[in-house]
Amino acid sequence: MAEGGPAEEGPAGEAQAEEAPAVIGATVPTGFEATAAAEVQEKLGSASRVSKDRGKIYFAVPARCLPQVHRLRSVDNLFVVVQEFKDYQFKETKEEALKDLEDLVKKLPWTDPLKVWELNNSLKKKKTKRKKHNQQSSASKEKLNDDGEEERTDQKDASEQEDCAQAAEPASGQETEETGGVESQNGGDDNEQSEAKDELHGGSGGEAGDGKKGEGDAKVLKFRVTCNRAGDKHSFTSNEAARDFGGAVQEHFQWKADMTNFDVEVLLNIHNNEVVVGIALTEESLHRRNITHFGPTTLRSTLAYGMLRLCDPQPTDIIVDPMCGTGAIPIEGAMEWPSCYHIAGDNNPQAVKRAANNICSLLKKNENKESSTSLGIPLDIIQWDICNLPLRTGSVDVIVTDMPFGKRIGSKKKNWDLYPACLMEMGRICTPGTGRAALLTQDKKCFAKALSRMGHIWRKNQTVWVNVGGLHAAVYLLKRTWERAEEKRSFW
Ligand SMILES: C[S@@+](CC[C@H](N)C(=O)[O-])C[C@H]1O[C@@H](n2cnc3c(N)ncnc32)[C@H](O)[C@@H]1O
Repeated sequence: MAEGGPAEEGPAGEAQAEEAPAVIGATVPTGFEATAAAEVQEKLGSASRVSKDRGKIYFAVPARCLPQVHRLRSVDNLFVVVQEFKDYQFKETKEEALKDLEDLVKKLPWTDPLKVWELNNSLKKKKTKRKKHNQQSSASKEKLNDDGEEERTDQKDASEQEDCAQAAEPASGQETEETGGVESQNGGDDNEQSEAKDELHGGSGGEAGDGKKGEGDAKVLKFRVTCNRAGDKHSFTSNEAARDFGGAVQEHFQWKADMTNFDVEVLLNIHNNEVVVGIALTEESLHRRNITHFGPTTLRSTLAYGMLRLCDPQPTDIIVDPMCGTGAIPIEGAMEWPSCYHIAGDNNPQAVKRAANNICSLLKKNENKESSTSLGIPLDIIQWDICNLPLRTGSVDVIVTDMPFGKRIGSKKKNWDLYPACLMEMGRICTPGTGRAALLTQDKKCFAKALSRMGHIWRKNQTVWVNVGGLHAAVYLLKRTWERAEEKRSFW
């Protein structure tokens, strides 16, 4: 049996596995690597290394810390690192480079990472059991939408083109031939968006269910290889790398390749000369947590967390999202900073309804759990116009919002009026001297112009460049100056 078979069984084996050192890799919203590293330091006490490959951090923890790792708020996908090569020398010809990758498989230290993977699986099984139990208890789920609009409750977000961990379904009917013969799915140009990915196409096995052969037989694991490649100096495509690396994995472990119904997902991340081999610890991105009723531009919860964290919320702070859409930001805020009071609103009644439905779903989901939401969540949602907020002057500590980019919501033309009006009204409600705001937009030109006109009330402290659904956007961290804001309305 090749190295990396099932770990020793029984309590001794478990204890050993729990102490196994794990280097964890985490994908995070690009631009928020430092925020994620700060969260890891705060919650796990581990220092992180930010990868050259933007959007990833690495940190070391004992495997027993996996539950806390899964509770991190700033990370999307997790994997355990098998080995990392900071300066891998790829051979020049395609054949030689691919042969090297194939040969690498049997040299890699798989044993400890596979123990971590097994431990992670046992945690997942426990969680699934609890989930099933809770679902049964709330089987009589009400349909909250009463306006006839079709609801999306499938946890899929249309604005997530950048999330690559579970994308890229294979072209059906393709089979893997270790000796070649599979055409590259992306025509050899897998540098597009820096993150092309392909998977080894396993000849789909005839075995159903969990792949158990029969009583007494060891389980034959099913696997797939996912290759993410970026860089223009490689002589091979990600598809070819996944295919050949996968062939070698199959031979080494005697696992069975299966594209869709796999137990183990082996990751081959290649970024210029950096190569990281890992094993996935998440099946779907951890940003899929709070939202069940999606809108056209629902923000990922991990990005919402990053924006909130930039503002360093303090207990009793009043935090406002004046353009909340489906409520991704204030809901994340209320879950993570429950000792703050969160107020959110939108001028679109449909958005307000979705946000309210999201809160109801979350409360329902948690009703059988002993959780902090048992008394409700400290969040109110109101329909309002950002240009005329029903809030007192200087009463708000923090504003975090995702502004209309002028693409799917509003228009670039409207933004020329909307942005200065927003900054003015946000400046009025925010406490002079201590108030802060984190504002996300892709309409950077318009924002810069509006900010230059409001320089007396807002000072820019930091800009974080982020990728939102493939769009190059920015989060601006602003500080409220001491200057009095213009009082347009005497009644507040
Ligand atoms: C980019 S979306 C926010 C998406 C939100 N973060 C989410 O997760 O669903 C911008 C929101 O601003 C709202 N909006 C546009 N103009 C507004 C105005 N004058 N007052 C209040 N909200 C406005 C839109 O209805 C839209 O929901």
